Amino acid sequence: MADHILAIDQGTTSSRAMIFNADQKVAGQGQKEFAQHFPNSGWVEHAPEDIWQSVDWAIRRALREAALQPADIAAIGITNQRETTLVWDRGTGAPIHNAIVWQDRRTAPICETLRAEGKEDLVTERTGLLLDPYFSGTKLKWLLDTVPGAREKAESGALAFGTVDSYLIWRLTGGRRHVTDATNASRTLMFNIIENDWDDDLLALFGIPRTLLPQVLDCDGDFGVTDAGVFGAEVPILGVAGDQHAAMLGQACFAPGMLKSTYGTGCFAVLNTGDTPVRSHNRLLTTIAYRLGGKSTYGLEGSIFIAGAGVQWLRDGLKIIGKASDSGRLASDADPNQAVYLVPAFVGLGAPYWDAEARGAIFGLTRNTGPEEFARAALEAVCYQTADLLDAMRGDWQGEAEATVLRVDGGMVASDYTMQFLADILDAPVDRPQMLETTVLGAAWLAGQAAGLWPGQERFAASWARERQFRPEMDAGTRNAKLAGWRDAVRRTLTGYA
Ligand code: G3P
Repeated sequence: MADHILAIDQGTTSSRAMIFNADQKVAGQGQKEFAQHFPNSGWVEHAPEDIWQSVDWAIRRALREAALQPADIAAIGITNQRETTLVWDRGTGAPIHNAIVWQDRRTAPICETLRAEGKEDLVTERTGLLLDPYFSGTKLKWLLDTVPGAREKAESGALAFGTVDSYLIWRLTGGRRHVTDATNASRTLMFNIIENDWDDDLLALFGIPRTLLPQVLDCDGDFGVTDAGVFGAEVPILGVAGDQHAAMLGQACFAPGMLKSTYGTGCFAVLNTGDTPVRSHNRLLTTIAYRLGGKSTYGLEGSIFIAGAGVQWLRDGLKIIGKASDSGRLASDADPNQAVYLVPAFVGLGAPYWDAEARGAIFGLTRNTGPEEFARAALEAVCYQTADLLDAMRGDWQGEAEATVLRVDGGMVASDYTMQFLADILDAPVDRPQMLETTVLGAAWLAGQAAGLWPGQERFAASWARERQFRPEMDAGTRNAKLAGWRDAVRRTLTGYA
């Protein structure tokens, strides 16, 4: 009997597939990086075929490693980079343009115009988001306005819009299903998170015909069955969630007040606020954390655009480290007397500043500054930004005190140096789980429990295990001085600083 679960994690820089056995242990995995395209300053694109080929490659590798056939898979869960926008032809399946990636800033002027027209309040009230190029809505508008013939075709129903999950499901089902889940929909700037439906006023605002949009399902809904000619067997897709939401599930943050932070390309902290969509006064996002059995659980999210991407910049841009895992060692050799701050606004700044036009800056250089100080500044910047998010969350959330323990995951959390500095600068404990691949695990759990093979929420939560807790050790004076230095550096980086 097929009892393995395949989880696909289609991320910003790589695609991975992981196969879990009936005991929820990893049986095989595959991972493939793919090309990033930067056609203009602040623009980021992916070729849809690269996304698909890398996913296909990762699945084949995982099956081979697990010594399994496609028919041995009982169910598939999908998690993905969110907001990234694709449009394809329903007839031919051909994309009309490269995918416009979440980091892409090309629609900053559209956001600016809408803001000047006083539309931001409406957008925030309905979607919980802000008018920032980060989200899909203005990217989709740009595509319809820019690609020749796109608007006419969209109006005639010939085109389909989707985030990456939708596109992969379309491909996996041989073009039979055009669906998404509530978490991915909640990041498009077009989805009403209270009514749980696409919002006609917002569609009119962005000029988007409804016929373009996928059907929105629960995270553990029925997303269709793979086409045997494509996947090698007919297997149901039973779980979908955006990557930050899947990480929340994988971290078993099911109770209000529980908080996770994932350090991938960017860093995204999400606080579970239960049945209540908490409105932020500190420019955080209100979002659907997950939707199970028709019931939405809400989250308060802080989004930072550059985390692991900063370490990639040390490796590929500055070439001062050979591999990402060298960064912690280099940083720990930095001169403690140098106060060097890097504000990694490479693609603008996200929460809580939301400055699309800001660009990166480094402060405090002396003749003695070298690779060690650059590495430390890049790692510390991620921690300072997390501190900014938690501060904002504390201002918005008066719920249970559990919010002061942070569950972390993602590639960067393997660095003890970074995690200790994080606990120090937050002045709060940081819990690192045994299973660091929580995003993939969350997608697998969705599909596994929907297939009746994995435990439900309670038993799954009980199986979450901590590998190590980092406790704050820094004295208040040092911490406050460091935070003041960071905030001054950010202030000087924001556009409009004079
Ligand atoms: O919102 C963007 C986010 O979903 C991307 O995540 O892990 O690819 O940085 P990641």
